[in-house]
Amino acid sequence: MKEQLEQIKLKAIAEIHDSQSSLEEIRIKYLGKKGQLTAILRGMGSLSAEERPVIGAIANAVREKIEEALAERMAELKKLNLERTLREEKLDVTYDGACSRCGHIHPITRTMQRMTEIFINMGFTVAEGPEVETVENNFDALNAPADHPSRDLQDTFYITENTLLRTQTSPVQIRAMREMKPPIRIISPGRVYRSDVADASHSPMFHQLEGLVIDKGITMGDLKGILSLFAKTMFGPETKTRFRPHNFPFTEPSAEVDVSCFVCGGKGCRLCKGEGWMELLGSGMVHPNVLRAGGIDPEVYTGFAFGMGIERAAMVMSGIDDLRLLYENDARLLRQF
Ligand code: DAH
Repeated sequence: MKEQLEQIKLKAIAEIHDSQSSLEEIRIKYLGKKGQLTAILRGMGSLSAEERPVIGAIANAVREKIEEALAERMAELKKLNLERTLREEKLDVTYDGACSRCGHIHPITRTMQRMTEIFINMGFTVAEGPEVETVENNFDALNAPADHPSRDLQDTFYITENTLLRTQTSPVQIRAMREMKPPIRIISPGRVYRSDVADASHSPMFHQLEGLVIDKGITMGDLKGILSLFAKTMFGPETKTRFRPHNFPFTEPSAEVDVSCFVCGGKGCRLCKGEGWMELLGSGMVHPNVLRAGGIDPEVYTGFAFGMGIERAAMVMSGIDDLRLLYENDARLLRQF
């Protein structure tokens, strides 16, 4: 019996040692209820009283040895497994990822969106008009006389005798008046075209944002209030506004609006060319002829309008000093904003 036990021990340990995974099977085979060691222990009843404790002690030692071997091999297999996983699933966190470059918003679009957002917060809605416009909407209905210089073939891209690439966003005023009933409170951002040679401050295509408010009892005070608030929201709460008399065919009276330079605060710097002020927009009280052209009775309603260039604001806000840079689409420039 002693030899049997010794053999069981050797066989079990050898099996355990060679095993790659099925340790549980081996345990059952030797130590389970029907296992080989258990069978021997059961047979101990036939032993003499002297032999029994001796064999019992040996059997227990064998069981302990087998259990020990099982535990050892289990730990070993676990370690080997972990090592293999680490080897096979190695992850180099310093490796260049396959990230897709995502683009971002162009400075002109961003400026336009910011301006639009400010007016929307003041209760304006956005109106749109086509870039190919009628001469009627772009000039006649806006009270621009037939001899107005902007009507010249030199200055404007005509498509046909009666259609052109709009030179300003102002024709959207006419469209809005004909489509909506007062009170009207709209802005209209978009592209405009002029037959200019491109240089640091001119481009044959650029962007404007038009505004129109029409209701009973609208005064120049409303114009000043809205535009001053816009300037403060857009350029900072310290921003001052200055209204200078001007002349536009579609407004009477007309004013150009300057804002105090938001870089130097009005002291004069490179950006504002020592002026302390920067020209922002044209504006005025809508001319009665324009209201009439839009189908609105100037005896009942009054209104104000304004139009501002987007490029200049985008340039000063992003520190770009050549207009052409905005259209070259050079990613090295655009990535900076
Ligand atoms: N349309 C004018 C321009 O292109 C800008 C402008 C001035 C628009 C006065 C207006 C306005 O609505 O009232 O220069």
